Amino acid sequence: MQEMILILDFGSQVTQLIGRRLRELNVYCEIHPYNKIPAIGPNVKGVILSGSPFSVRDEKAPIADLSNIKGKLPLLGICYGAQFISQHFGGEVNGSIAREYGRAMLTVVDEACPLFKGVSKTSQVWMSHGDTIAKLPQGARIIASTDDVENAAYKIDGETTYAVQFHPEVFHTKEGPQMLANFALGICGCKGDWTPDSFIDNTVASLKQKLGDDKVILGLSGGVDSTVAAVLLNKAIGKNLTCIFVDNGLLRKNEFEDVLDSYKEMGLNVIGVHSGHLFLEKLKGVTDPEAKRKAIGSTFIDVFDAEAQKIEGARWLAQGTIYPDVIESVSVNGPSCKIKSHHNVGGLPEKMNLKIVEPLRSLFKDEVRRVGRALGIKRELIGRHPFPGPSLGIRILGEVTEEKLHILREADDIFIKGLRNWPCELPSASYPNEMADNLYDSIWQAGTILLPVKSVGVMGDERSYEYTIALRAVISTDGMTADWVHLPYEFMAKVSNDIINKVKGVNRVCYDISSKPPATIEWE
Ligand code: XMP
Repeated sequence: MQEMILILDFGSQVTQLIGRRLRELNVYCEIHPYNKIPAIGPNVKGVILSGSPFSVRDEKAPIADLSNIKGKLPLLGICYGAQFISQHFGGEVNGSIAREYGRAMLTVVDEACPLFKGVSKTSQVWMSHGDTIAKLPQGARIIASTDDVENAAYKIDGETTYAVQFHPEVFHTKEGPQMLANFALGICGCKGDWTPDSFIDNTVASLKQKLGDDKVILGLSGGVDSTVAAVLLNKAIGKNLTCIFVDNGLLRKNEFEDVLDSYKEMGLNVIGVHSGHLFLEKLKGVTDPEAKRKAIGSTFIDVFDAEAQKIEGARWLAQGTIYPDVIESVSVNGPSCKIKSHHNVGGLPEKMNLKIVEPLRSLFKDEVRRVGRALGIKRELIGRHPFPGPSLGIRILGEVTEEKLHILREADDIFIKGLRNWPCELPSASYPNEMADNLYDSIWQAGTILLPVKSVGVMGDERSYEYTIALRAVISTDGMTADWVHLPYEFMAKVSNDIINKVKGVNRVCYDISSKPPATIEWE
């Protein structure tokens, strides 16, 4: 069984980061809610308690049952986790002595402590807490302090229980990765053998066993997740996998043909379905964003289902679901309200009466890319920006028409090709710790939006009255928050010129300088 570290989530915004940092060490980990602790098998090598928006002194503060964990397995409490251990095991937490937010300098007190092996005597850490550990839990002693917080890190003697008041998982804790490596690889004794190659070998073997000679259907979207899922399944079951790639008539310029060719080159058994006319028909007269999404989503299900019916004896539907989609989040403020309906294919499995197989369920996005690379998938596919299921349908504000689609496709092509051809010296957005080949690679997502506004301009000697195009480029890690990219002025000048000169129907180009929140990435 794969060895792993269990992360108990108390609802912190950065819990997933703990997971990502461990995975970067090639250590497999799983995040579970604090009140749904799974059975602790011998493969669980250690446990980490996350931070939380709660104070341990709140009436409704989350309480985890550590009776099978503390003193029995290596344990690391982070922020709320550190306070929780203190509060419940003989220490004391109070709210008033010293609050710390932001950067602080940590001084290691116990230099022999395995948690700080190879860590500088003083280093920058990130603090974010209102409460203070006033008294350490029973049997504990201080292992590090900051100027304001004496009990910044402690260890319980006779146990492998450690706790840190700061966040080792965030970027601003400079030596955080070393501390987490010390915990996972040193104190817990993990081997660090969770590599893309080992994932591929294990997954292919288990898919073979699970699927046998069954037939499987998979919907390809051109995106990274479905592509990697398809290649893995193809490796496991070959021609028993049928992929369906639907042209919804709302894709980018030449996208359907280009991506379909790449899939065929990779040896995938793929059926391309041209059904753009159906989608456009359904979108006629529809202007409300949610109604557009629903129309596109339900038409997709109908087209996909009709195609899938032709594949006799199919028993499974494969999906490119990834780990952030399945982590059960700890609800802190009640269920979050719906902002946009993102799930394009919701309802598909029920309708088709098929069993579900999700080979990427345990992977974070950057791991999907690493696996994709190890599978030999070309960079153009692996490094593609996310693209929404409803496609250009939600980037044409208001009603979608053939004419507007044509304008948007041409403008978008100029923007995206421009990004791909513009050299830069920036970090890659898709591969952490690598440099980008060009601007496109350095950006998390870029796109073009056609606004339903016409404005006056002058072309030659003539007055023009044409559409406005908005350009959007953002940096993000998961799409939940995003910052607009500071594109070089020379680049924007060139793209704007090219679009206005070459795309008939456009006389104005704007750049969207809003971050998420409060704006969203897509305009609809
Ligand atoms: P927003 O606009 O909510 O988008 O900031 C966040 C990320 O999700 C993508 N997105 C979608 N993806 N179906 C999808 O598969 C959708 O309906 C959808 N809407 C938005 C968006 O492109 C961005 O990456």
